[in-house]
Amino acid sequence: MKKSILIALFAATMASAQVKGNIEVPYIAFPIKMGKGFETVQANCLMCHSFGYILNQGRQSRAFWRGKVDKMIDHFKAPINKQDAKIITDYLFQHYGNGKEK
Ligand code: HEC
Repeated sequence: MKKSILIALFAATMASAQVKGNIEVPYIAFPIKMGKGFETVQANCLMCHSFGYILNQGRQSRAFWRGKVDKMIDHFKAPINKQDAKIITDYLFQHYGNGKEK
């Protein structure tokens, strides 16, 4: 007897836990800045993750960005050549830089 009351209670709780109506997930487009070198960034950086990782860092120095590009290459084995690494660093520093070299 007690068992069936518990089961009924459980079922009722489950039912009320359901969400009524539609859930809308907002679409957030990351505001990417276009400019010299953007194609290189697109081709080399967005194969593993979105631009969000880059934007989330905020404005940073050239050394910081260079370090991140190197980290992607050294630790995560991103196939980026030296020439592209420089183009990407320049792009990041120009658009997401804080004006400081170090
Ligand atoms: C081979 C895959 C790969 C490529 C290509 C790649 N990344 Fe990453 N990136 C990662 C991984 C893995 C992480 C760490 C994810 C985590 O910690 O959750 C990461 C994290 C980051 C972060 C977050 C901060 C940090 O230090 O972890 C930044 C910034 C970043 N990447 C920038 C770049 C840029 C700029 C490029 C292009 C030069 C790039 N990534 C290309 C794999 C890659």
